[in-house]
Amino acid sequence: MLSKSIESALNNQIKIEAESSQVYLAMAVWAEVKGLEGVSTFMYAQSDEERQHMLKLVKFVNERGGHAKISNLEEPNDSFTSFKEMFQKLYDHEVFVSKSINELVHISLQEKDYATHNFLQWYVSEQIEEEALARTVLDKINLIGDDKGGLYLFDRDIEKLTVTTASSETTL
Ligand code: FEO
Repeated sequence: MLSKSIESALNNQIKIEAESSQVYLAMAVWAEVKGLEGVSTFMYAQSDEERQHMLKLVKFVNERGGHAKISNLEEPNDSFTSFKEMFQKLYDHEVFVSKSINELVHISLQEKDYATHNFLQWYVSEQIEEEALARTVLDKINLIGDDKGGLYLFDRDIEKLTVTTASSETTL
């Protein structure tokens, strides 16, 4: 059985994951409208993944005798000055999510809720991967700079990254 404070902290994380899904959906739309097909495919996939993160928490809260809360969501930013800015925002957002997961882990230990602590380890590993992936993408973008040909190749390659991520490889 979840304590009230753990239930409320997990429900807060459900909102954060749902908002992450919206944040990346808005990025997918922006990229699609700009004609960056590969980038938009990548972002649509990220958005789907965040929804899975959210659902995993919903199921956990309900299975442990709590009541998952489905909240109103913050409207995401949907305009970017460049795709580099957009990926910087993705990275910053993942750092924010990692902090929030770490805080949850801290609360679960304080409350001696080892089942929740164990459940959260999946998110801890996931955040390491997501931050690393976002950093890899940012490094690539910095290498390209303003080169149009480089952007074309980046857009083509990031689509492959989406496919390989699905089979849990993260090489670009
Ligand atoms: Fe669910 Fe990307 O954090």
